[in-house]
Amino acid sequence: MKHLIAPSLLAADFSNLKSEIEMINNSEADWLHLDIMDGVFVPNISFGIPVLESIKSITQKPMDVHLMIVDPDRYIDAFKNAGANIFNVHYEACNHLHRTIQSIHKADMKAGVTLNPHTPVALLEDVIADLDLVLLMSVNPGFGGQKFIENTYNKIAQLKELALKKNSRALIEVDGGVDNTNAKSLIDAGADVLVAGSYVFKSSDPKATISTLKHL
Ligand code: DX5
Ligand code: ZN
Repeated sequence: MKHLIAPSLLAADFSNLKSEIEMINNSEADWLHLDIMDGVFVPNISFGIPVLESIKSITQKPMDVHLMIVDPDRYIDAFKNAGANIFNVHYEACNHLHRTIQSIHKADMKAGVTLNPHTPVALLEDVIADLDLVLLMSVNPGFGGQKFIENTYNKIAQLKELALKKNSRALIEVDGGVDNTNAKSLIDAGADVLVAGSYVFKSSDPKATISTLKHL
């Protein structure tokens, strides 16, 4: 499978949100990555459901929603109604992860589970067969523009092995510090989806940068 690119809106110019989303529409991006932060699970607050509802009417790309909030089950239907296509919950934020995954599928969304840098891949053993996606954090969640954590390569290898063992078709997505110095190596290691925030939006030509990431 050709890898997918998911620009993270967190690094966009929020005073020009419409044109930023139109730029993504006109680019080779595959998904639009949306970071929801509650100031509790992570030490930062981003944007929420009303903003997604507005984006829904403009974006032509599937909405890949990354929930950095405690107990995300409470908002499954709300985010579905706001246009989410992919619903990524953190392993560390769910007490009843199996039930959460079932609820996401019942709401007719793709189910993803996200692992913080300290969370072992092996903890997904009993749910990976039910997942559409595993999101590996390659920085500690909460902020854009942080330094990529090299141990992510080991986690991709472990995840590929586990997925094979469990007959899982879950995509492997990597999020945090992705740029031209590591993107190709991540794909070669087995990543299927690359999230990139700062590298795309802080570049002089974001559309061309997305294209570069797509054609590594
Ligand atoms: C961090 C977010 C990321 C962030 C990535 O908590 O999950 O999606 O936007 O930003 P960069 O690519 O700048 O590291
Ligand atoms: Zn994210």
